[in-house]
Amino acid sequence: MSAGLKRRLYRAVRDVRDPRRAAERRRIRDGVARFLGGRDVLERYEREVRESGLMDHLLEKGREHHEAVVETGAGHSLGAIGYTEGVYLYAVLRKLQPTRAVETGVANGFSTAFSLLALQTNGEGHLYSIDLPREVGRDYEPGTFFEGEGRAGIPAGSEPGWLIPPDLKERWTLILGRSQEELPPLLERLGAIDTFMHDSEHSFDCMWFEYNAGWPALRAGGVLLSDDVNSTEAFGRFAAEQGREPVRLARGMAFLQK
Ligand SMILES: C[S@@+](CC[C@H](N)C(=O)[O-])C[C@H]1O[C@@H](n2cnc3c(N)ncnc32)[C@H](O)[C@@H]1O
Repeated sequence: MSAGLKRRLYRAVRDVRDPRRAAERRRIRDGVARFLGGRDVLERYEREVRESGLMDHLLEKGREHHEAVVETGAGHSLGAIGYTEGVYLYAVLRKLQPTRAVETGVANGFSTAFSLLALQTNGEGHLYSIDLPREVGRDYEPGTFFEGEGRAGIPAGSEPGWLIPPDLKERWTLILGRSQEELPPLLERLGAIDTFMHDSEHSFDCMWFEYNAGWPALRAGGVLLSDDVNSTEAFGRFAAEQGREPVRLARGMAFLQK
């Protein structure tokens, strides 16, 4: 059975077992389609991702990650966004056609791969990513990572984004370090940006800091995306302050349009 068919079967069974979650997923999908300009547009983007082979590549690399990281038993995870959110992220970046995209939090590179695939299909744009990686088996000074962190880990000796297909990396600059230190000079250097995504340290302080740094740099019509929007009050409070209605990409992932 193909991986695609397996995924569809899994989803069908899941939806029958939990109709409320199924309804929520449909609402999210409708909201994304509305933003993109219709279901047909979303379906076109979904087809593009399917035909790119990225899903199968990530499945394969996900298995490698499981062996190299999860099976060490040290409590590390892939810490990645899901496939559905990945495709929605791809669709948002296809619609916006960013020239300059910025994100924090790469880890193994799931969300980054979907963003870079969108830029490659767009035929323009560059993604700047900031990540403070957690390498499995390495000792870090106490306090290096926020205590409540989900422990996304990368294999020993690897770089953040190691699972991204090499041909997608042409439009990518990776900056190693803490977003609290690296984000302000990066934004200063870039000037106006088209998209900003937070997926690094999910503390209130860091989320609040990144939203407040990224938003002023966004052009009108640009979007601020965030994963783990429910982990603190930061996203809801920021959306209310800016008077923007979030568009959900998943229960815990959303964006605001400036
Ligand atoms: C949830 S993972 C990112 C997952 C990724 N977006 C994906 O979909 O595969 C968070 C990443 O941010 C890194 N990180 C943690 N604190 C950070 C900080 N203060 N600045 C930058 N990166 C940080 C973590 O080590 C990890 O690599």
